[in-house]
Amino acid sequence: YPQYKLSDSPTNKVGGSIRNEFKQHEHSIPMLSLGNIFSNMNEDDINIRHSELTQFNNKICNTLNVLELEYVASPKYDGVAISLIYLDGELQRGLTRGDGFIGENVTHNIKTIKNIPLKLDIKNPPTRLEVRGEVLIFTNAFMQLNQEQQLLGLKIFANPRNAAAGSIRQLDSSITKMRPLFFFAYSIAYHSTDNFKYFSEQLNYLKQCGFSISDECSKLLGADELIKYYENILNKRNELPFGIDGVVYKVNSIDAQNKLGYISRAPRFAIAHKFPAQEVESEVLDIQIQVGRTGALTPVARIKPVLVGGVIVSNATLHNQDEIRRKNIMIGDFVLVRRAGDVIPEIVSVVVEKRPKNAIEFIMPNVCPICGSHLHQGDDEAIIRCSGGLYCDAQKKQSITHFASKLALNIDGLGEKNVDLLIDSNLINNPADIYTLSLEQLLNLDRFAKKKADNLLHAISLSKQTTLSRLIYALGIRNVGESTAKDLSSAFVSLDKLMKANKDELLQVNEVGVIVANSIIDFFNEKHNKEVINQLIDAGVQYELKVSENKYNQFITSKVFVLTGTLPTLSRDTVKAMLEEYGAKVSGSVSKKTDYVIAGSDAGSKLDKANALGIKIIDENELLILLG
Ligand code: IVH
Repeated sequence: YPQYKLSDSPTNKVGGSIRNEFKQHEHSIPMLSLGNIFSNMNEDDINIRHSELTQFNNKICNTLNVLELEYVASPKYDGVAISLIYLDGELQRGLTRGDGFIGENVTHNIKTIKNIPLKLDIKNPPTRLEVRGEVLIFTNAFMQLNQEQQLLGLKIFANPRNAAAGSIRQLDSSITKMRPLFFFAYSIAYHSTDNFKYFSEQLNYLKQCGFSISDECSKLLGADELIKYYENILNKRNELPFGIDGVVYKVNSIDAQNKLGYISRAPRFAIAHKFPAQEVESEVLDIQIQVGRTGALTPVARIKPVLVGGVIVSNATLHNQDEIRRKNIMIGDFVLVRRAGDVIPEIVSVVVEKRPKNAIEFIMPNVCPICGSHLHQGDDEAIIRCSGGLYCDAQKKQSITHFASKLALNIDGLGEKNVDLLIDSNLINNPADIYTLSLEQLLNLDRFAKKKADNLLHAISLSKQTTLSRLIYALGIRNVGESTAKDLSSAFVSLDKLMKANKDELLQVNEVGVIVANSIIDFFNEKHNKEVINQLIDAGVQYELKVSENKYNQFITSKVFVLTGTLPTLSRDTVKAMLEEYGAKVSGSVSKKTDYVIAGSDAGSKLDKANALGIKIIDENELLILLG
């Protein structure tokens, strides 16, 4: 129903945000985005592996009624999109993409980039030319930049894209000038006397004008050649001097491009073919042990820093000793590193042929490396644990940090660093000690000035009013996560009852099995844990039980509802009370902040406003379903 689309609909936006420090400037032609396709590289059959690509090609061949199409493929540069405007051959303006319609004027910084021509290198320049491309930093230059930053005690960049973006948005262009920025042009958005028939001609023209075009750009015929191109670039991805996160295919004929047109904010004639998680070679420098909150010993590989999928990786978890054995990892090995789900770094495999003679086998310690306590291993567990409990500094720090964390007692300002400081200064030893902290004690610490200390004490005081499920979760009982804590809270209603529950009673609870039940019993059998709980209660920590502890209604909590019209069976007051019981807010008027409008018969202007703002509208039945 395109007729109902609003001119200010969020779907018109491409993404990105605008910084106020830079002058904003409207793009004469919007900077759009690209649709994405992926391949499953674990599939053996090449056609199945690239079925999304074949579909893309078939669809546009059908639209154009042709059997085969010519494309231009290029790397998908992992940098920052920039639009350059040349008037009579001279660089006038450089804009960032911003939200796609309005960008930031970064001309003063763009002019410092060495391979961007300030004047076009051709005889009869057009009155107006708009060039689009990507500013990036080559991998080697990025590593060197970070080394320099470190030496100077300046900010280390997480990846080349961030470094490029930060450099482009520098208010001081003399800093930008020192950054090793590079510009690859990828298209012409506007040319005043444009008579290009092919996209490939545009690229050649850009080259003649003095722009850098990657050598990897290639003219290709049909889906098979696109597949070959993709696999080839994917294979040499790690050897390319700059970061890419896929390839881009564009239909070569400009006439065909115009016929295909646009869908939403992306062209139909082009697509980004994204790469799977990247695997990069590195070296294991050492294997060290980390002790977690529940005492679990996790070996972590310290590896030579490498860029994996645009992020510097210098640690990779090895999970447990079995994993090290299974993957046959030794200190000194060359290994392939990947970011699992593109986030957590892990070692995929060892490059066995490169194993150095002096590689060292890793042996698990026989006592806790942090506190020296003895270790134990469950019968059918791969994990080895420290028996030190809160005697162990590592466990102590993490237990207290967990206790104060957002989903637990939510003490704002009590993160890892401050917990470390308070423990190291001997001010706290267990979670209950948090409530003994005084202003004087905090002011004696370097990191706390009056305001910060006041804020922390205020947050600590607020945390005393909590809910039972939060308190159970905060205790950090092994195998009891947020969801189980909610189930336990609903089932036992009081902490005292939970502490006294036997195994059979625990097993009655939704999602509690033998392992969880044993963990709970073990936890409350520990004298030390009982003491901490008593100390918490003495300090004034109180909990109330909310119906909203039922996790099935969790997503209603803190949502904003507005009621309008008459509902078939429920009165307004009943609905309001029910929603508030579940932790939702009920407001009298519709605004952008409204999450749901509950509409009955004879609903008036609120319904119109909700429609105009695109807010979800539900009826009584849907409300009851929402409430479970
Ligand atoms: S063509 C309609 N070619 O990818 C947009 N874009 O996902 C046409 N990008 O913001 C863009 N390398 O900045 C094109 N070789 C390439 C590219 C490329 C990187 C970026 C571009 C855009 C984003 C879209």
